[in-house]
Amino acid sequence: MSLKIRLGILGGGGDSLIGVLHRVASSMYDQFQIVGGVFNPVWEENIGFVEKIGLPTNRVYIDFDTLIEEELKLPVSERMEAISILTPNFLHFPMAKKLIENGFNVICEKPMTTSLEEAKILQNLLLDSDTIFAVTYTYTGYPMIRQMRNMIANGVIGKVQKIDVQYYQGWINPIIHDEEKRGNTWRLDPEKSGISCCIGDIGTHAFDMIEYVSGLKVNSVLADLNYLYSDNKMDIDGTVLIHCSGDVKGVIRASQIATGEENNFTVQIYGEKAGLKWEQENPNYLYLLEDGKPLNILKPGHIYNSELSLDGTKLPPGHPEGIFDSMGNIYKGIAKAIKGEKYDIGEYPTITDGVRGMNFIEKAVQSHQSGNIWIKIDD
Ligand SMILES: NC(=O)c1ccc[n+]([C@@H]2O[C@H](COP(=O)([O-])OP(=O)(O)OC[C@H]3O[C@@H](n4cnc5c(N)ncnc54)[C@H](O)[C@@H]3O)[C@@H](O)[C@H]2O)c1
Repeated sequence: MSLKIRLGILGGGGDSLIGVLHRVASSMYDQFQIVGGVFNPVWEENIGFVEKIGLPTNRVYIDFDTLIEEELKLPVSERMEAISILTPNFLHFPMAKKLIENGFNVICEKPMTTSLEEAKILQNLLLDSDTIFAVTYTYTGYPMIRQMRNMIANGVIGKVQKIDVQYYQGWINPIIHDEEKRGNTWRLDPEKSGISCCIGDIGTHAFDMIEYVSGLKVNSVLADLNYLYSDNKMDIDGTVLIHCSGDVKGVIRASQIATGEENNFTVQIYGEKAGLKWEQENPNYLYLLEDGKPLNILKPGHIYNSELSLDGTKLPPGHPEGIFDSMGNIYKGIAKAIKGEKYDIGEYPTITDGVRGMNFIEKAVQSHQSGNIWIKIDD
Protein backbone atom coordinates (compact mmCIF):
# COMPACT_ATOMS: atom_id res chain seq x y z
CA MET A 1 0.00 0.00 0.00
CA SER A 2 1.25 3.50 -0.81
CA LEU A 3 2.56 5.48 2.15
CA LYS A 4 2.03 8.74 0.32
CA ILE A 5 -0.01 11.44 2.05
CA ARG A 6 -3.45 11.76 0.45
CA LEU A 7 -3.66 15.38 -0.73
CA GLY A 8 -6.72 17.40 -1.79
CA ILE A 9 -6.52 20.67 -3.71
CA LEU A 10 -8.83 23.69 -3.53
CA GLY A 11 -8.41 26.10 -6.44
CA GLY A 12 -5.35 25.81 -8.63
CA GLY A 13 -7.38 24.87 -11.71
CA GLY A 14 -6.29 25.08 -15.34
CA ASP A 15 -6.97 28.82 -15.33
CA SER A 16 -4.74 29.48 -12.32
CA LEU A 17 -1.22 30.74 -11.85
CA ILE A 18 -0.11 28.75 -8.83
CA GLY A 19 -1.83 25.37 -9.30
CA VAL A 20 0.91 23.75 -11.37
CA LEU A 21 3.56 24.78 -8.84
CA HIS A 22 1.76 22.94 -6.04
CA ARG A 23 1.00 19.88 -8.17
CA VAL A 24 4.62 19.48 -9.24
CA ALA A 25 6.09 20.43 -5.84
CA SER A 26 3.88 18.06 -3.89
CA SER A 27 4.94 15.14 -6.07
CA MET A 28 8.65 15.99 -6.07
CA TYR A 29 9.85 13.87 -3.16
CA ASP A 30 7.21 11.12 -3.61
CA GLN A 31 5.54 12.11 -0.35
CA PHE A 32 2.09 13.24 -1.53
CA GLN A 33 -0.51 11.87 -3.89
CA ILE A 34 -3.28 14.15 -5.17
CA VAL A 35 -6.53 12.26 -4.72
CA GLY A 36 -9.11 14.95 -5.53
CA GLY A 37 -10.41 18.41 -4.68
CA VAL A 38 -12.30 21.34 -6.12
CA PHE A 39 -10.11 22.95 -8.74
CA ASN A 40 -12.60 25.44 -10.11
CA PRO A 41 -16.03 26.71 -8.97
CA VAL A 42 -17.56 25.89 -12.40
CA TRP A 43 -18.24 22.14 -12.54
CA GLU A 44 -17.46 21.68 -16.26
CA GLU A 45 -14.13 23.48 -15.83
CA ASN A 46 -13.38 21.58 -12.63
CA ILE A 47 -13.99 18.08 -13.95
CA GLY A 48 -12.74 18.90 -17.45
CA PHE A 49 -9.39 20.01 -16.05
CA VAL A 50 -8.99 16.90 -13.90
CA GLU A 51 -9.79 14.63 -16.84
CA LYS A 52 -7.30 16.53 -19.00
CA ILE A 53 -4.41 16.12 -16.55
CA GLY A 54 -5.28 12.49 -15.88
CA LEU A 55 -6.06 12.57 -12.17
CA PRO A 56 -8.78 10.28 -10.77
CA THR A 57 -12.21 11.95 -11.03
CA ASN A 58 -14.09 10.06 -8.29
CA ARG A 59 -13.11 12.53 -5.56
CA VAL A 60 -13.49 15.74 -7.52
CA TYR A 61 -16.35 17.56 -5.81
CA ILE A 62 -18.76 20.22 -6.95
CA ASP A 63 -17.82 22.59 -4.13
CA PHE A 64 -15.90 22.85 -0.87
CA ASP A 65 -18.81 21.99 1.44
CA THR A 66 -19.51 18.82 -0.54
CA LEU A 67 -15.84 17.88 -0.32
CA ILE A 68 -15.91 18.07 3.48
CA GLU A 69 -19.23 16.21 3.70
CA GLU A 70 -18.16 13.36 1.40
CA GLU A 71 -14.61 13.02 2.72
CA LEU A 72 -15.90 12.70 6.29
CA LYS A 73 -17.99 9.72 5.18
CA LEU A 74 -14.81 7.87 4.20
CA PRO A 75 -12.79 5.82 6.69
CA VAL A 76 -9.84 7.78 8.09
CA SER A 77 -7.47 5.44 6.26
CA GLU A 78 -8.86 6.65 2.92
CA ARG A 79 -9.76 10.25 3.73
CA MET A 80 -7.68 13.19 2.46
CA GLU A 81 -4.96 13.87 5.04
CA ALA A 82 -3.91 17.31 3.88
CA ILE A 83 -5.61 19.95 1.76
CA SER A 84 -3.93 22.78 -0.10
CA ILE A 85 -5.84 26.06 -0.40
CA LEU A 86 -4.88 27.80 -3.65
CA THR A 87 -7.94 29.98 -4.22
CA PRO A 88 -8.12 33.79 -4.25
CA ASN A 89 -7.43 35.22 -0.78
CA PHE A 90 -10.98 35.76 0.53
CA LEU A 91 -11.65 32.00 0.48
CA HIS A 92 -8.58 31.06 2.54
CA PHE A 93 -10.18 31.81 5.92
CA PRO A 94 -13.56 30.06 5.59
CA MET A 95 -11.90 27.05 3.98
CA ALA A 96 -9.03 26.82 6.48
CA LYS A 97 -11.40 27.24 9.44
CA LYS A 98 -13.67 24.41 8.38
CA LEU A 99 -10.72 22.18 7.51
CA ILE A 100 -9.14 22.67 10.95
CA GLU A 101 -12.50 22.08 12.65
CA ASN A 102 -12.80 18.77 10.79
CA GLY A 103 -9.28 17.54 11.48
CA PHE A 104 -7.58 18.02 8.10
CA ASN A 105 -3.98 19.22 7.84
CA VAL A 106 -3.87 22.52 5.94
CA ILE A 107 -1.42 23.95 3.43
CA CYS A 108 -2.51 27.53 2.77
CA GLU A 109 -1.30 30.04 0.22
CA LYS A 110 -0.29 33.51 1.37
CA PRO A 111 -1.59 35.97 2.40
CA MET A 112 -3.08 33.55 4.90
CA THR A 113 -6.37 35.45 5.33
CA THR A 114 -7.79 38.86 4.49
CA SER A 115 -7.45 40.28 8.01
CA LEU A 116 -5.38 39.89 11.17
CA GLU A 117 -8.56 39.08 13.10
CA GLU A 118 -9.25 36.07 10.86
CA ALA A 119 -5.62 34.96 11.15
CA LYS A 120 -5.83 35.01 14.95
CA ILE A 121 -9.05 32.96 14.88
CA LEU A 122 -7.23 30.24 12.94
CA GLN A 123 -4.28 30.42 15.33
CA ASN A 124 -6.59 29.99 18.34
CA LEU A 125 -8.39 27.07 16.72
CA LEU A 126 -5.07 25.32 16.24
CA LEU A 127 -4.28 25.52 19.95
CA ASP A 128 -6.77 22.71 20.57
CA SER A 129 -5.93 20.59 17.57
CA ASP A 130 -3.22 18.29 16.20
CA THR A 131 -3.56 19.80 12.75
CA ILE A 132 -0.39 20.75 10.86
CA PHE A 133 -0.81 24.20 9.31
CA ALA A 134 1.63 25.49 6.71
CA VAL A 135 1.68 28.80 4.85
CA THR A 136 3.48 28.63 1.52
CA TYR A 137 5.96 31.48 1.57
CA THR A 138 7.53 29.74 -1.40
CA TYR A 139 10.91 31.42 -1.44
CA THR A 140 12.02 30.13 1.97
CA GLY A 141 12.51 26.71 0.34
CA TYR A 142 15.46 27.77 -1.82
CA PRO A 143 18.74 26.06 -0.82
CA MET A 144 20.72 29.33 -0.94
CA ILE A 145 18.12 31.12 1.19
CA ARG A 146 18.45 28.34 3.76
CA GLN A 147 22.21 28.77 3.52
CA MET A 148 21.85 32.53 4.06
CA ARG A 149 19.79 31.88 7.21
CA ASN A 150 22.45 29.48 8.48
CA MET A 151 25.35 31.85 7.80
CA ILE A 152 23.65 34.78 9.54
CA ALA A 153 22.76 32.59 12.54
CA ASN A 154 26.40 31.45 12.71
CA GLY A 155 27.73 35.02 12.76
CA VAL A 156 29.42 34.95 9.33
CA ILE A 157 28.33 38.54 8.62
CA GLY A 158 28.50 39.72 12.24
CA LYS A 159 25.81 41.88 13.78
CA VAL A 160 23.24 42.84 11.17
CA GLN A 161 23.24 46.60 10.55
CA LYS A 162 21.19 47.16 7.39
CA ILE A 163 18.36 45.25 5.68
CA ASP A 164 17.17 46.03 2.16
CA VAL A 165 14.65 43.77 0.49
CA GLN A 166 13.23 44.65 -2.87
CA TYR A 167 10.34 42.87 -4.59
CA TYR A 168 9.68 44.47 -7.96
CA GLN A 169 7.15 43.24 -10.54
CA GLY A 170 5.66 45.12 -13.48
CA TRP A 171 2.58 43.07 -14.35
CA ILE A 172 0.01 45.56 -13.01
CA ASN A 173 1.36 48.41 -15.15
CA PRO A 174 -0.65 47.51 -18.30
CA ILE A 175 -3.71 46.82 -16.12
CA ILE A 176 -3.75 49.90 -13.93
CA HIS A 177 -3.91 52.33 -16.86
CA ASP A 178 -6.90 50.52 -18.40
CA GLU A 179 -10.14 51.19 -16.48
CA GLU A 180 -11.88 48.01 -17.67
CA LYS A 181 -8.94 45.73 -16.87
CA ARG A 182 -8.46 47.20 -13.43
CA GLY A 183 -12.08 46.36 -12.64
CA ASN A 184 -11.60 42.73 -13.71
CA THR A 185 -8.51 41.81 -11.69
CA TRP A 186 -9.30 40.07 -8.37
CA ARG A 187 -6.09 41.24 -6.73
CA LEU A 188 -7.35 44.85 -7.14
CA ASP A 189 -10.75 44.01 -5.59
CA PRO A 190 -10.77 44.44 -1.78
CA GLU A 191 -13.68 41.96 -1.51
CA LYS A 192 -11.49 39.19 -2.95
CA SER A 193 -7.98 40.31 -2.08
CA GLY A 194 -8.22 41.99 1.33
CA ILE A 195 -7.05 45.47 2.29
CA SER A 196 -3.90 45.49 0.20
CA CYS A 197 -2.68 44.37 -3.19
CA CYS A 198 1.08 44.95 -3.45
CA ILE A 199 1.97 44.76 0.23
CA GLY A 200 -0.38 41.79 0.73
CA ASP A 201 0.67 39.92 -2.37
CA ILE A 202 4.45 40.43 -2.45
CA GLY A 203 5.40 42.77 0.41
CA THR A 204 4.39 39.94 2.73
CA HIS A 205 6.94 37.62 1.05
CA ALA A 206 9.62 40.26 1.71
CA PHE A 207 8.55 40.64 5.34
CA ASP A 208 8.57 36.88 5.94
CA MET A 209 11.93 36.54 4.20
CA ILE A 210 13.55 39.16 6.44
CA GLU A 211 12.45 37.35 9.58
CA TYR A 212 13.40 33.96 8.07
CA VAL A 213 16.94 34.77 7.00
CA SER A 214 17.95 37.27 9.68
CA GLY A 215 16.30 35.65 12.70
CA LEU A 216 15.23 39.18 13.71
CA LYS A 217 11.67 40.34 14.33
CA VAL A 218 10.27 43.37 12.55
CA ASN A 219 8.93 45.48 15.44
CA SER A 220 7.50 48.52 13.69
CA VAL A 221 6.81 49.90 10.23
CA LEU A 222 6.35 53.23 8.46
CA ALA A 223 4.72 52.86 5.05
CA ASP A 224 4.23 55.11 2.06
CA LEU A 225 1.94 53.39 -0.46
CA ASN A 226 1.05 54.27 -4.01
CA TYR A 227 -2.37 53.85 -5.71
CA LEU A 228 -1.95 55.96 -8.92
CA TYR A 229 -5.70 56.41 -9.61
CA SER A 230 -8.36 57.76 -7.24
CA ASP A 231 -10.80 54.95 -8.15
CA ASN A 232 -8.16 52.31 -7.33
CA LYS A 233 -8.62 51.24 -3.71
CA MET A 234 -5.60 48.95 -3.57
CA ASP A 235 -1.92 49.79 -3.20
CA ILE A 236 0.14 48.68 -6.17
CA ASP A 237 3.49 49.94 -4.97
CA GLY A 238 5.01 50.93 -1.67
CA THR A 239 8.03 51.61 0.46
CA VAL A 240 8.04 50.40 4.04
CA LEU A 241 10.72 51.45 6.51
CA ILE A 242 11.26 48.85 9.19
CA HIS A 243 12.70 48.77 12.70
CA CYS A 244 13.75 45.31 13.83
CA SER A 245 14.86 43.71 17.05
CA GLY A 246 18.47 44.58 17.97
CA ASP A 247 17.86 48.18 16.77
CA VAL A 248 18.38 47.09 13.19
CA LYS A 249 16.91 49.36 10.51
CA GLY A 250 15.91 48.52 7.00
CA VAL A 251 13.52 48.91 4.12
CA ILE A 252 11.07 46.83 2.10
CA ARG A 253 10.59 48.18 -1.42
CA ALA A 254 7.72 46.48 -3.23
CA SER A 255 6.08 47.31 -6.52
CA GLN A 256 3.79 45.80 -9.13
CA ILE A 257 4.12 48.81 -11.42
CA ALA A 258 7.89 48.62 -11.82
CA THR A 259 7.48 48.62 -15.58
CA GLY A 260 9.13 45.69 -17.32
CA GLU A 261 10.23 43.94 -14.13
CA GLU A 262 9.37 40.23 -13.90
CA ASN A 263 9.87 38.74 -10.43
CA ASN A 264 12.79 40.76 -9.16
CA PHE A 265 12.92 39.73 -5.52
CA THR A 266 16.29 40.69 -4.06
CA VAL A 267 17.30 40.09 -0.46
CA GLN A 268 20.25 42.06 0.93
CA ILE A 269 21.40 41.75 4.51
CA TYR A 270 24.49 43.68 5.61
CA GLY A 271 26.40 43.00 8.81
CA GLU A 272 29.46 44.59 10.42
CA LYS A 273 31.74 41.87 8.99
CA ALA A 274 30.12 41.10 5.61
CA GLY A 275 27.00 41.30 3.47
CA LEU A 276 24.85 38.63 1.80
CA LYS A 277 22.83 39.14 -1.33
CA TRP A 278 20.41 36.79 -3.14
CA GLU A 279 18.30 37.37 -6.25
CA GLN A 280 15.26 35.21 -6.97
CA GLU A 281 15.76 35.39 -10.72
CA ASN A 282 19.22 33.80 -10.27
CA PRO A 283 18.52 31.70 -7.17
CA ASN A 284 21.51 29.40 -7.37
CA TYR A 285 23.95 32.19 -6.47
CA LEU A 286 24.47 33.58 -2.98
CA TYR A 287 26.85 36.53 -2.92
CA LEU A 288 29.11 37.09 0.07
CA LEU A 289 30.46 40.65 0.14
CA GLU A 290 33.40 41.62 2.37
CA ASP A 291 35.54 44.74 2.77
CA GLY A 292 38.73 44.50 0.72
CA LYS A 293 38.11 40.96 -0.53
CA PRO A 294 37.00 39.59 -3.89
CA LEU A 295 33.32 38.77 -4.27
CA ASN A 296 32.58 35.26 -3.04
CA ILE A 297 29.80 33.30 -4.72
CA LEU A 298 28.27 30.27 -2.99
CA LYS A 299 26.25 27.72 -4.94
CA PRO A 300 23.93 24.82 -3.99
CA GLY A 301 24.95 21.22 -3.48
CA HIS A 302 28.53 21.84 -2.28
CA ILE A 303 29.75 20.44 1.03
CA TYR A 304 30.38 23.93 2.40
CA ASN A 305 26.59 24.44 2.62
CA SER A 306 24.53 23.72 5.73
CA GLU A 307 22.66 20.48 6.28
CA LEU A 308 19.28 22.12 5.62
CA SER A 309 20.53 23.74 2.44
CA LEU A 310 21.93 20.42 1.21
CA ASP A 311 18.71 18.64 2.15
CA GLY A 312 16.94 20.89 -0.36
CA THR A 313 19.28 20.09 -3.27
CA LYS A 314 18.42 16.99 -5.26
CA LEU A 315 21.10 16.93 -7.94
CA PRO A 316 24.89 17.40 -7.92
CA PRO A 317 26.24 20.96 -8.20
CA GLY A 318 25.76 22.60 -11.60
CA HIS A 319 22.21 21.41 -12.20
CA PRO A 320 20.16 24.57 -11.62
CA GLU A 321 17.10 24.18 -9.40
CA GLY A 322 14.35 26.77 -9.23
CA ILE A 323 10.99 27.73 -7.81
CA PHE A 324 9.43 24.27 -8.25
CA ASP A 325 12.25 22.81 -6.18
CA SER A 326 11.87 25.55 -3.58
CA MET A 327 8.18 24.76 -3.10
CA GLY A 328 9.04 21.04 -3.25
CA ASN A 329 11.33 21.53 -0.26
CA ILE A 330 8.51 23.17 1.68
CA TYR A 331 6.19 20.24 0.88
CA LYS A 332 8.97 17.89 1.97
CA GLY A 333 9.11 19.59 5.40
CA ILE A 334 5.31 19.50 5.70
CA ALA A 335 5.34 15.77 4.90
CA LYS A 336 7.84 15.16 7.71
CA ALA A 337 5.61 17.08 10.15
CA ILE A 338 2.47 15.20 9.07
CA LYS A 339 4.25 11.85 9.39
CA GLY A 340 5.58 12.80 12.82
CA GLU A 341 9.20 12.68 11.66
CA LYS A 342 11.97 14.96 12.93
CA TYR A 343 12.28 18.22 10.99
CA ASP A 344 14.05 21.56 11.22
CA ILE A 345 11.83 24.56 12.09
CA GLY A 346 13.17 26.27 8.97
CA GLU A 347 11.65 23.64 6.71
CA TYR A 348 8.20 25.12 6.33
CA PRO A 349 6.44 28.34 7.40
CA THR A 350 3.72 27.89 10.01
CA ILE A 351 0.60 29.61 11.33
CA THR A 352 2.87 31.95 13.34
CA ASP A 353 4.46 33.19 10.12
CA GLY A 354 1.01 33.54 8.56
CA VAL A 355 -0.28 35.62 11.48
CA ARG A 356 2.82 37.83 11.45
CA GLY A 357 2.36 38.35 7.72
CA MET A 358 -1.21 39.56 8.26
CA ASN A 359 -0.02 41.76 11.12
CA PHE A 360 2.51 43.36 8.77
CA ILE A 361 -0.05 44.00 6.02
CA GLU A 362 -2.54 45.62 8.41
CA LYS A 363 0.08 47.79 10.11
CA ALA A 364 1.62 48.93 6.83
CA VAL A 365 -1.77 50.01 5.46
CA GLN A 366 -2.65 51.65 8.79
CA SER A 367 0.66 53.52 8.80
CA HIS A 368 0.04 54.87 5.31
CA GLN A 369 -3.57 55.84 6.04
CA SER A 370 -2.59 57.59 9.26
CA GLY A 371 -0.20 59.92 7.43
CA ASN A 372 2.95 57.73 7.23
CA ILE A 373 3.55 57.21 10.91
CA TRP A 374 5.44 54.49 12.77
CA ILE A 375 3.17 51.63 13.89
CA LYS A 376 4.19 48.77 16.14
CA ILE A 377 3.66 45.19 15.02
CA ASP A 378 2.19 43.15 17.91
CA ASP A 379 4.38 40.36 19.13
N1 LIG B 1 3.41 31.57 -2.89
C1 LIG B 1 3.49 32.29 -3.97
O1 LIG B 1 4.59 32.66 -4.37
C2 LIG B 1 2.26 32.66 -4.71
C3 LIG B 1 2.31 33.03 -6.06
C4 LIG B 1 1.10 33.29 -6.74
C5 LIG B 1 -0.09 33.24 -6.05
N2 LIG B 1 -0.10 32.93 -4.72
C6 LIG B 1 -1.38 32.88 -3.96
O2 LIG B 1 -2.13 31.78 -4.43
C7 LIG B 1 -3.52 32.10 -4.41
C8 LIG B 1 -4.08 31.90 -5.80
O3 LIG B 1 -3.42 32.77 -6.68
P1 LIG B 1 -3.42 32.54 -8.26
O4 LIG B 1 -2.56 33.59 -8.83
O5 LIG B 1 -3.18 31.13 -8.61
O6 LIG B 1 -4.93 32.91 -8.57
P2 LIG B 1 -5.73 32.59 -9.92
O7 LIG B 1 -6.82 33.57 -10.01
O8 LIG B 1 -4.77 32.44 -11.05
O9 LIG B 1 -6.33 31.11 -9.62
C9 LIG B 1 -7.30 30.89 -8.63
C10 LIG B 1 -7.90 29.52 -8.82
O10 LIG B 1 -8.89 29.29 -7.81
C11 LIG B 1 -10.07 28.77 -8.43
N3 LIG B 1 -11.23 29.10 -7.58
C12 LIG B 1 -11.84 30.30 -7.42
N4 LIG B 1 -12.90 30.16 -6.59
C13 LIG B 1 -12.93 28.85 -6.21
C14 LIG B 1 -13.78 28.10 -5.37
N5 LIG B 1 -14.82 28.65 -4.73
N6 LIG B 1 -13.53 26.77 -5.21
C15 LIG B 1 -12.50 26.18 -5.86
N7 LIG B 1 -11.66 26.86 -6.69
C16 LIG B 1 -11.87 28.17 -6.86
C17 LIG B 1 -10.09 29.43 -9.81
O11 LIG B 1 -10.92 28.73 -10.71
C18 LIG B 1 -8.61 29.32 -10.17
O12 LIG B 1 -8.31 28.02 -10.66
C19 LIG B 1 -3.61 33.55 -3.91
O13 LIG B 1 -3.90 33.54 -2.54
C20 LIG B 1 -2.23 34.11 -4.16
O14 LIG B 1 -1.86 35.14 -3.25
C21 LIG B 1 1.03 32.64 -4.06
